[in-house]
Amino acid sequence: MGKEYEGNNEVESFVDAHLAMLPEIVRVTAPGGSICWQVGNYVRKNEVIPLDYLVYDVMRAFPDMKLRNRIVWMFGHGLHCQTRFSGRHETILWFTKGDDYLFDLDAVRVRQKYPGKRSSKGPNKGELSGNPKGKNPSDIWDIPNVKANHIEKTEHPCQFPVALVQRLVKALCPVDGILLDPYCGVGSSGVAAMLEKRRFLGGELSEKYADVAKDRITEAVSGIARVRPLDMPVYEPSPNEKVAKRPDHFWQQTTDDILG
Ligand SMILES: C[S@@+](CC[C@H](N)C(=O)[O-])C[C@H]1O[C@@H](n2cnc3c(N)ncnc32)[C@H](O)[C@@H]1O
Repeated sequence: MGKEYEGNNEVESFVDAHLAMLPEIVRVTAPGGSICWQVGNYVRKNEVIPLDYLVYDVMRAFPDMKLRNRIVWMFGHGLHCQTRFSGRHETILWFTKGDDYLFDLDAVRVRQKYPGKRSSKGPNKGELSGNPKGKNPSDIWDIPNVKANHIEKTEHPCQFPVALVQRLVKALCPVDGILLDPYCGVGSSGVAAMLEKRRFLGGELSEKYADVAKDRITEAVSGIARVRPLDMPVYEPSPNEKVAKRPDHFWQQTTDDILG
């Protein structure tokens, strides 16, 4: 909302658009299929309006659609606010159509923090307590957003990282299933679908972005798309890197600051 490519939409027209469009999205979703709706906050005169709340309200009209997770997508880069905390997350509402739905947890498990941890009591005392296949990635996902230096960056001001969609595709869409993204921009969801051998239908108003989407999807099919891998850890600069060194006059928190 409010981005140059979306005109002057306000909250009311956001809701109206969803009232018109979500019934169609629900209609074409297969029983047991998923709808993942990613939105952020709309900021008007420094007041924050959480858009997922509005989307959820519209979705409640469909008794078959059940919310399974409100996934928090956190990322490191954005505006530095002076009058409130800097916004560093958006959300994805994951709904399923009905209760008999696909959730392939094993396809998206991540490495345990403490794989050597053992049970301290009970019948399995002393045994390794973690799942050897990895752990559930939880509903908080730390995936870098696509800013200037990101390998996937195109001319689109607001593109998804492919990894964000890829995890959803792996867990929620059967192999050979169809992923529909009616607002596909430069086709990040299409790239994710191709990488994971799913089929893709995309809609995009801007011909300019649709052309980029077609190119990226074609590259993904050919195995040459520029993509940041889903399992790549978030970059942490080494303390020896020049940019990580604290200039002498920069504030540093000390134990005295913390203990008062
Ligand atoms: C937030 S962007 C999506 C970016 C996309 N996730 C990506 O990674 O490239 C929303 C897109 O929806 C497009 N759009 C806006 N209104 C539309 C409409 N009525 N029909 C189709 N596309 C629309 C915009 O041009 C914009 O590219």
